[in-house]
Amino acid sequence: MAINKLPLLLLVSVVLVFLNRPVLSDTDEEDVLFTGINSYRTLQNLTILNKNENAECLADEIADQFKNKPCTNDTGSATVPGTEPQFANYPQILAKCHLNVSDTRDGSIMPACVPRLDSNLVLTNFTKSQYSMNLNDSKFTGMGIGKEDDWIVVVLTTNTPEGSYSTASKEDSNGFTFSIGLFNYLLVFLLSFSFFLF
Ligand SMILES: *[C@@H]1O[C@H](CO)[C@@H](O)[C@H](O)[C@H]1NC(C)=O
Ligand SMILES: *[C@@H]1O[C@H](CO)[C@@H](O)[C@H](O)[C@H]1NC(C)=O
Ligand SMILES: *[C@@H]1O[C@H](CO)[C@@H](O)[C@H](O)[C@H]1NC(C)=O
Ligand SMILES: *[C@@H]1O[C@H](CO)[C@@H](O)[C@H](O)[C@H]1NC(C)=O
Ligand SMILES: *[C@@H]1O[C@H](CO)[C@@H](O)[C@H](O)[C@H]1NC(C)=O
Repeated sequence: MAINKLPLLLLVSVVLVFLNRPVLSDTDEEDVLFTGINSYRTLQNLTILNKNENAECLADEIADQFKNKPCTNDTGSATVPGTEPQFANYPQILAKCHLNVSDTRDGSIMPACVPRLDSNLVLTNFTKSQYSMNLNDSKFTGMGIGKEDDWIVVVLTTNTPEGSYSTASKEDSNGFTFSIGLFNYLLVFLLSFSFFLF
């Protein structure tokens, strides 16, 4: 009898493993930009930037602050240095991302506004604007990307204490994803197993 259930069991396992794959559609522009920036770094003979979870959190929060601001020719990557918008709630935003001013000082926050986040324009807004100075800089070692509506924000981090963006214990976030992943595999295992019981 168990033999007859084998094809069904395989099918269910395959479907569950497939469902277990992360949904990418929501983060597409971020992933494309992440890859684009690292290709640019490689062309410049610079080290690639690793993903930094706290920087990504900050990038998401900053994008959220910008989301209702319209795109104009003097916002985002075209902002005149020194006229960047200041957020009164910046300390709270940092705290939310387990950061404080002392471990973010050397980092760099780069917001860009591109209608519908057209991926080619998004990349050139970083590689062909004033931001390229930062992308050309070997002191940066990590990055986080966040987006909201037409705004996409890149936060660069260094490996010095003043730019590490690493106040929070890393296990927090990684441990969480890990347990979700583990739970899914456990579910597949349990469901597969239950078929043998029938
Ligand atoms: C990167 O290194 C290659 C090989 O050493 C060199 O030909 C190229 O000009 C370098 N590119 C830059 C942007 O420095
Ligand atoms: C930005 O747009 C305004 C109004 O359309 C225009 O007067 C100004 O010259 C533009 N600035 C640049 C740098 O293109
Ligand atoms: C920022 O966090 C670091 C590491 O936890 C701590 O040593 C430092 O005192 C904090 N600085 C401020 C201004 O809160
Ligand atoms: C940045 O994006 C805007 C669209 O908001 C576009 O008009 C501009 O040309 C882009 N700048 C660069 C340097 O790619
Ligand atoms: C960054 O490097 C590229 C290629 O070497 C260069 O075209 C660009 O002007 C540099 N950006 C800055 C701001 O120096």
